[in-house]
Amino acid sequence: MEAGAICENIYLEATSLDMGTVAVGAFNDALVNEILEIDGRSEAALLIMPLGYLKDK
Ligand SMILES: Cc1cc2nc3c(=O)[nH]c(=O)nc-3n(C[C@H](O)[C@H](O)[C@H](O)COP(=O)(O)O)c2cc1C
Repeated sequence: MEAGAICENIYLEATSLDMGTVAVGAFNDALVNEILEIDGRSEAALLIMPLGYLKDK
């Protein structure tokens, strides 16, 4: 799976843009798959990474 490498790249890119992110693996898989219109078998959500500007920067 490429998820770990993609996750690392999102962290690096967020840092370079002075943004924050965090890996979240505990979420309602079925609901997220439904929102993304993927079947959870051939394609499935593995991680959520919210991105935002840091409050104190
Ligand atoms: C693959 C992966 C999945 C993670 N999933 C969660 C999660 O579901 N909930 C959570 O609180 N932290 C999760 N973490 C840890 C967070 O990314 C983060 O390190 C942790 O919440 C501590 O953040 P803090 O130092 O800002 O408090 C996960 C980390 C990884 C690498």
